[in-house]
Amino acid sequence: MKNGFREDFLWGGATSASQIEGGYSEGGKGLDTSDCRPGNFGIPRMDKIKWKNRLMTTSKYERALKTEGNDIYPFRWGSDHYHRYKEDIGLLAEMGIKIYRLSISWARIYPNGDEQTPNKDGLEFYKNIFEECKKHGIKVYCTMLHYSIPVHLIEEYGGWQNRKMIDFFLKYARTLLEEFKDYVDIWLPFNEINAGMFHPYNGIGLVLDDKYADMEDPFIDSRQKIYQALHHQFIANALTIKIAKEIDPKIQMSCMIAWFCPYPATCNPDDVLLAYQEQQYECLFYTDVMSRGEYPRYMKSYFKKHNIKIEMLPEDEEILKTYTSDMVSFSYYFSSVATNDENWEKTDGNLKRAKVNPYIERSQWGWQKDPKGLRITLNWLYDRYQKPLFIAENGLGAADELEADGSIHDPYRIEYLRNHFSAMRDACEDGVDLLGYTMWGVIDLVSCGTIEMRKRYGTIYVDADDEGNGTFNRYKKDSFYWYKKVIASNGQDLE
Ligand code: BG6
Repeated sequence: MKNGFREDFLWGGATSASQIEGGYSEGGKGLDTSDCRPGNFGIPRMDKIKWKNRLMTTSKYERALKTEGNDIYPFRWGSDHYHRYKEDIGLLAEMGIKIYRLSISWARIYPNGDEQTPNKDGLEFYKNIFEECKKHGIKVYCTMLHYSIPVHLIEEYGGWQNRKMIDFFLKYARTLLEEFKDYVDIWLPFNEINAGMFHPYNGIGLVLDDKYADMEDPFIDSRQKIYQALHHQFIANALTIKIAKEIDPKIQMSCMIAWFCPYPATCNPDDVLLAYQEQQYECLFYTDVMSRGEYPRYMKSYFKKHNIKIEMLPEDEEILKTYTSDMVSFSYYFSSVATNDENWEKTDGNLKRAKVNPYIERSQWGWQKDPKGLRITLNWLYDRYQKPLFIAENGLGAADELEADGSIHDPYRIEYLRNHFSAMRDACEDGVDLLGYTMWGVIDLVSCGTIEMRKRYGTIYVDADDEGNGTFNRYKKDSFYWYKKVIASNGQDLE
């Protein structure tokens, strides 16, 4: 059998600080935006994705800050990785991963975000994690901001709408680059930067008035603020690259988007055009700025048409043009369908609802499982940017069962991964330069979209339920042994 993967292909696993660490007030950590997202247990699965239940509204936010009411905050305990990181990295090493993608919690390093000096305990915590990785020969892919902004920066400055955030972020980024440059192989300033549009609380720290909770499009009045905040993130991204390259030109910097993959619902040119434009506005705009270094013309006309005015400093365009990413990363979970037909059946997906494709099966959470879409995506992005690609997230969220003997049988996950790996191999054989793959939530963690433990992605099971009951002990799923075999054979053995 042919094997298209590069010899040094980076097989790995990914997590984020807010979803896995817990220990939310330990080691001097400040409160961050994820710590304030309450669980919505008891709500039927398909209702959880309604904006009413997902949006961060003023009243929810105020309750979280005061810890009033009966709300429960699952990101505050995560998977208790804060206390178990040694065991976790040991398990990842046993599985043979080549690279671990993790994120740093900004509020562990700068608890309020605007201090002058970093928190030593926070730096120590990550240094210990990196040392463990080094001990096991695991490379590191480090995300600087994955949906966890110190709440003080929201309270005091209004989050990313404020240009001052660029300086706070750069101070944080410089600290990380200087402290950890010898441990990290790939740096990513912003996880899924387009989340700012689809989940503005997570992406840019936008809290909305309660009146928006029942609206079909709660961001209708906020587009101007969101695009302005995104501009600040683009500049912060570019200037982080500047700092990194000044420290050492060999430092590898990535950018990242969540990829949605819309297909035209029919060959009606209206559907084809709509699919094309969704791809531009929802995904490519972001990588065009960060990888090509300028606002694309279609976005400039979109802004004009919608009367959106981005405030820029005279030097901004030059900054974006000069400091572009070395590679392009993306998350890929599902594909969708583009149609103007309002009555088209809808289902859930990562960060946004999707329209149903009758040819594609769905996960228990309604996400459309589409390995061929991954091959298409890889070809698409490589053709456009001609830079190495990295699949920073992909995986299957499912309700696994822990058996009495400690085993977990997850053939559905193995099948999902097998099909996606085979599509990746095909894309490599198409000539795409794919550097690596980090399976999302390789150790079970709290779901970001639906804030629950029940939706599990890992090859390593964590014995905890939605409300944080359980031993938090780790167990290897069948997929653990399967992925180990895949890695050992560099993707040759997918049986
Ligand atoms: C991505 C995020 O959007 O999707 C992760 O970067 C998230 O943080 C992942 O966990 C899967 O989504 P969910 O909602 O199933 O956790």
